[in-house]
Amino acid sequence: MEDFAAGIPGHVIGRILGVPEADCPRLRAWSENIVQYFDIDRSDERKALAESTTEEFYEYLKALKSERSRTPQDDLISRLIKAENAGKIDEDEFISTCMLILMAGHGSTIDAMGSGMHTLWRFPEQMLRLRRDPSLISTAVQEMFRYESPLPFMHRYTTEDIEINGQSFSKGTRFGVLYGSANRDPQQFEDPDNFDIAREPNKHLAFSRGAHFCMGNHLSRLDMEIVFTTLLSRFSKIRLVGDEPEYRRGLSVRGPKSLQIELTPA
Ligand code: HEM
Repeated sequence: MEDFAAGIPGHVIGRILGVPEADCPRLRAWSENIVQYFDIDRSDERKALAESTTEEFYEYLKALKSERSRTPQDDLISRLIKAENAGKIDEDEFISTCMLILMAGHGSTIDAMGSGMHTLWRFPEQMLRLRRDPSLISTAVQEMFRYESPLPFMHRYTTEDIEINGQSFSKGTRFGVLYGSANRDPQQFEDPDNFDIAREPNKHLAFSRGAHFCMGNHLSRLDMEIVFTTLLSRFSKIRLVGDEPEYRRGLSVRGPKSLQIELTPA
């Protein structure tokens, strides 16, 4: 995971935002610590770590913002500063937007790359099919998201009294929405436990739906498409070595802890 996946999303998102290249590796630790805050089964210790990391990240962004205010560049941070100066957003919105973008897209894309690689390896006929027909890459990547949803769970609160399946829920009820489970729903997906790189339609919920639909879904799909197309074209054999990978199985994260692969150059 370190050699293959971990360096990619942070650099991509960091570059779009305007985080200096040398600081990009720190984004990973920040995002991993902060994202734990959203886990329903978080411990007090993890919550405290998420909070202290948020403060550290906040200070970092404030310093970067004041530097970029003096010397604007062609990046998202400079554009957000412009928006703040024009009164379109306030400082809190500036900071929380940068934080959300950096945090939301980082670990999830790393996990998707790891679990996508692992899944391709587990279904060798699908890996071969993708090698033979690289035009299937878009549906293949969507299927990777469906099959091993990197963000399997989120909270929702009802904003009004509602009834679902004959059961009443009052305004303010807290729900857990299980994206990972929905993505294996046999009523929605034929043979849901099968990994089919040409599956269509593929109305998965790995990026949620509605008002909170993932803002970075295009970016992470593009990251994945480039990574897997490149790997398959540069290496004639991709083999998993060592033990079956163990997965991190938090409610809000899912991906291999490590993945040992042997690559044979094409
Ligand atoms: C594997 C990659 C990714 C997965 C699986 C993923 C998944 C999700 C999901 C499920 C949500 C909805 C959360 C909810 O239910 O409230 C979400 C929201 C969001 N994602 Fe992603 N995401 C990924 C990559 C990215 C990237 C690369 C970015 C940014 C560069 C990003 C930015 C966001 C933002 C800003 C939101 C909040 C949208 C809102 O609440 O209005 N995500 N993502």
